[in-house]
Parts: sequence; C-alpha cells; structure tokens
Amino acid sequence: MDERQKPGVLRSYTPLTIGETQGALEILEPLTEQQLHLRQTVTSAAVATGAIALAFLLVAMAMGRRLVGRPVEQLVSLARRIGEGDLEARVHLRQKDELATLADAMNQMASGLAAARAQVTAETAARLATLEHLRHADRLGTVGKLASGVAHELGTPLNVVLGRAKMIASGEAEGDETRECALIITQQVQHMTGIIRQLLDFARRRTPQRAPEDLTELVARTLRLLHPMATRRGIILASEAEGPLRLDVDGGQLQQALTNLVVNGIHAMKRPGTLRVKLGRARALPPAELGGPEAEWVRLDVLDEGEGISPETLPRVFEPFFTTKDVGEGTGLGLSVSYGLIRDHGGWISVSSEPGRGSCFSIFLPPEAAGPQEAEA
Ligand SMILES: Nc1ncnc2c1ncn2[C@@H]1O[C@H](COP(=O)(O)OP(=O)(O)OP(=O)(O)O)[C@@H](O)[C@H]1O
Ligand SMILES: [Mg+2]
Repeated sequence: MDERQKPGVLRSYTPLTIGETQGALEILEPLTEQQLHLRQTVTSAAVATGAIALAFLLVAMAMGRRLVGRPVEQLVSLARRIGEGDLEARVHLRQKDELATLADAMNQMASGLAAARAQVTAETAARLATLEHLRHADRLGTVGKLASGVAHELGTPLNVVLGRAKMIASGEAEGDETRECALIITQQVQHMTGIIRQLLDFARRRTPQRAPEDLTELVARTLRLLHPMATRRGIILASEAEGPLRLDVDGGQLQQALTNLVVNGIHAMKRPGTLRVKLGRARALPPAELGGPEAEWVRLDVLDEGEGISPETLPRVFEPFFTTKDVGEGTGLGLSVSYGLIRDHGGWISVSSEPGRGSCFSIFLPPEAAGPQEAEA
C-alpha cells in the first residue's frame, strides 16, 4: 500500500523556493493523537448527552408525578369516598391549575350533597313525626270506635243476662220460667264469649296447625253452617269446584277466614240472590309484601251480588277496626283477622268490586301446601 494512503497521517505542503527552483516541502505527521482526542471527545459528548437526557426524563417524571399523578390519585380517592356516602371528604391541592379547579368543584359538589342530605334527613324526620302523630290520632280514634263497638256488642247481652238473673233472684220467674231464664243467660254468655274470642283472635294469632284437608269438603262444611243465615235473607249459597283438592292447612283457621268472607257477602246482599264460592287453581302475581314471581296458586273466590264497595272504601277494607256497619253490627275485625290467617299460610286475599253489582274476595294459598294425594295426582 502506498505510504500516502495510510490512514492516520496528516499531509501538509509548504511551497519552497531555493534559488531559481521552486518546490514544496511535504510534511507527514501521524494522526494517532488527534484521532484519539476526537474519539474521546465524541464519547464524552455522547455520555454527557445521555446523562442530560436521563436527568431530564427523571425530572419530568418526578414533576409529572407531583403535578398530575398524585393530584389525580387524590381526586379519584375523593370521588370514591363521595360515592360511598362520605360527604365530609374533601381534597386540597396546593397547585393552581385545572386539577385544582376540578378539586374545588368536587369539594363544592360534596358540600352541596351534604346539605341536600341533611335537608332530606330533616324532612324525612319531620314527615315520620307527622305520620306517627297521625297514626297515634288514628289509633286513638280506632280504639274509641272499637271500645264503643265492644261496649254495644257486650252491652245488649249483658242487659239480658242482668234482667234474667234479677227475675230468678227476685222469684219473679218460677218453675219452667227459671229454666228458660237460665237457657237465655247461657246463650247470651256464649254470644259474649264469641265476641271476646274474635278480639283475642285478632290480638294473638296462633301458628297454623296444619293437616291434610279436602278444600271442597271444607267449603261444603262452611256453607252448610251458614245456610240458615243465608236462607233467612233469601240468598242461595252455591259452590263450584274443579275436583277434590287436598292441601296441608289449618282447617279451623281456613274455615274461619272463609266464613268471614261469606258472612260479609251475605251482609252486602240486601236483595235475594246467589253467593258463589269457587275453588280451583290460577296463575297470579303475589302482592308486593309477599314478593315472588307469577306462579300457580290455589284460589278460593267468594262472589256476591251485593251492593259492592266504593273506590274510596276499597283500599281500607283490610284495616283492623275498619267498618261501615253500624255500632254493634260489626267490629271491623273480620277481614283483618282473615287476611292475617291466610298470610300465616303463606297466601293472601285480594278484592275486586263493582259498586252496585257485587264484590269478589279471593283467597290465594300456596300449592306447595298440597297434601300427598294432591301432589301425586
Ligand atoms: N262483600 C262485601 N261487600 C261489600 N262491602 C264489604 C264486603 N266485605 C267487606 N266489606 C266492607 O269492608 C268492611 C270491613 O269488613 P270486615 O269484615 O273487616 O268488618 P265488618 O264486617 O264490618 O265487621 P266484623 O268484624 O263483624 O266482620 C265492612 O264494614 C264493609 O264496609
Ligand atoms: Mg265482616
């Protein structure tokens, strides 16, 4: 290889005149030292640039975390606490930027929500107090109504008992008359016991004593008992059933509920007509207080051709002590007791009525209470 082509050599020429002769002086200088210097310079420049870039990155990250990351975390935590109902939560950012504006807005929102909640709590408390006040007044009214009802109900038989007892004591009644007086006293005492039993039934219901019952037979039995009362008013009691239907129920309680419904129907029929009791199964949606989806239920309808119930009265008929009957004629406990008995069986009673045409009270019972024979069928 030519000497001049060697890398790392600095070649410089200096013109030179010696006498008449012109020439040039070639100076060859090795570049080893300069190259080394250049390489070192490039390396240190690269390292310095890298270090500066890294330093900038670290500073940018630290600033980003301080100015954005942490405030955003605080805002997220504030939003979460407010969401969980902690309306006392606040956040205070030291910076003055959009995030600080957002924090102020969120603090104000929390204050607004806290004020609204306090107002709602105060209003609810006031409403509850008013309601309690009304209920108290209502209770006083119903207790008064019940007291006058019971006083009247018991007053009449007590007068009879007193009169007959006086007749016996004074000797006014003699021989057969004495026996007749004793008989009348017995009847009146039984009547009073019945009233007291109904009140007690209302006050403390016992849990149903379930046993397999044929509901068709239970309906027939109930209607047989009420037959004389209906006939006196020219009312025919009819029953329809799809077939034998056995359920595990407290026969006595179910009969009591059905009796109350039929007696109400008879009372509502001021003219002769037919009162029907229909037994079968039907799909129905339980009321809200019972809950659950639409399903098949055992249904017992009591359909009368009576005066019906006005839309204003209809929502109140199941209220304890609510009655439209005169003092002494009704205590207003029949339907509330019946409803309670059917609820104890896991069912409910519904009512529909057409004023002037009649009413339909329906007892719904859960089919799970079906006895073994019914379940197998
Ligand atoms: N079949 C019906 N037709 C019309 N109104 C009815 C019928 N059933 C109930 N009602 C109304 O509902 C009210 C409440 O009935 P509920 O059986 O609870 O009490 P009551 O019959 O008045 O007295 P009791 O305690 O003697 O049963 C009745 O007073 C009546 O106004
Ligand atoms: Mg009644």
